[in-house]
Amino acid sequence: MIKAEEAIVARDLRKRFPVGMGLRRKQVEALKGVTFTVRRGEIYALLGPNGAGKTTTVRIISTLLLPDSGEARVLGYDVVKDRWEVRKRIGVMLSVERGFYWKLTARENLYYFGRIYGIPKRKLLGKIEEVLDLVGLKEIGAEDKPYEEMSLGMKARLGLARVLLKDPEVLILDEPTLGLDPPSARMIRSMLRSLADEGRTVLVTTHNMYEAEILSDKVGIIVSGRIVMEGTPSSLKRTVYKVVPISFRLKITPMADLEGLRTSLGMLVEAGRTSITVNGDEVRLRIVIPRVEREESYIEAVTRISYEKGFKLLEARVEEPSLEDVFIEVSSRAAAN
Ligand SMILES: Nc1ncnc2c1ncn2[C@@H]1O[C@H](COP(=O)(O)OP(=O)(O)O)[C@@H](O)[C@H]1O
Ligand SMILES: [Mg+2]
Repeated sequence: MIKAEEAIVARDLRKRFPVGMGLRRKQVEALKGVTFTVRRGEIYALLGPNGAGKTTTVRIISTLLLPDSGEARVLGYDVVKDRWEVRKRIGVMLSVERGFYWKLTARENLYYFGRIYGIPKRKLLGKIEEVLDLVGLKEIGAEDKPYEEMSLGMKARLGLARVLLKDPEVLILDEPTLGLDPPSARMIRSMLRSLADEGRTVLVTTHNMYEAEILSDKVGIIVSGRIVMEGTPSSLKRTVYKVVPISFRLKITPMADLEGLRTSLGMLVEAGRTSITVNGDEVRLRIVIPRVEREESYIEAVTRISYEKGFKLLEARVEEPSLEDVFIEVSSRAAAN
């Protein structure tokens, strides 16, 4: 039996997609067992790079896609068996296909969808004004703009307005701030926060570490169809900042031995923690080392190896870890466990 404080529960969700045709037909494993729980009134961010399985996960939880196995419940209802009960209670905003009428204005679109949701006319008219106001479409004078003339930010605001029309207990949003202007992104984040403060539950996906950090109560990092790490933003950050990337620019001389450079670096840095790209007569090198180790000793070692292999060091720079470093770090740790 489900506990009342658990708004969304996903257990071991798996999903494969067929790709290719004929002899080249094969399967992509989009989800390899996704498990997580979102508590009532919580903002849960599913954070991951492109292709990690974020959209597949939210489509399953939104009843738009069937899992191959595993189960998911929203407010105690099974997303497959009780999909109509689930649909009544969720507001869904998917990033790619927002499905509005291009010739209709923001207000007209909301009217159209409000009627589809079965909201009585009188109530709907008031509700439309309320949500147009809430998402700031009135403030920016876009409420009577046809959808086709709207900016991405306006479209996203309208998407959120449509979700709010239904007064959903649970909101599910797939990369709602992707590509938006900063004011629209900020508006959407602050709306989600106030909705959660009212006791609603929010499941949101993002590939933006910063966004996950400022927006959510809990973050699940998803990589290649698995949640590899989960925690509050601050607990996650503590783990994440344990790596330091160092980048180098090397000049290629006539004696340069690229394979030799690769081999020697392979002995210095763990597998998967180096990248080498050739750019004209230069080589860009990037290594990621544990924070606890001394950066200078690595810079010295790389300088020596480069010289031995016929490269001249032009520049070495200690960087801040990127989200990608974090993913590589947590996935390699997950693989080792
Ligand atoms: N309809 C589909 N057909 C084939 N492959 C798909 C389909 N949907 C998703 N995939 C694949 O499943 C993986 C996860 O995709 P997706 O859930 O969209 O990731 P994300 O939203 O994190 O970018 C990717 O490898 C993607 O190419
Ligand atoms: Mg996606």
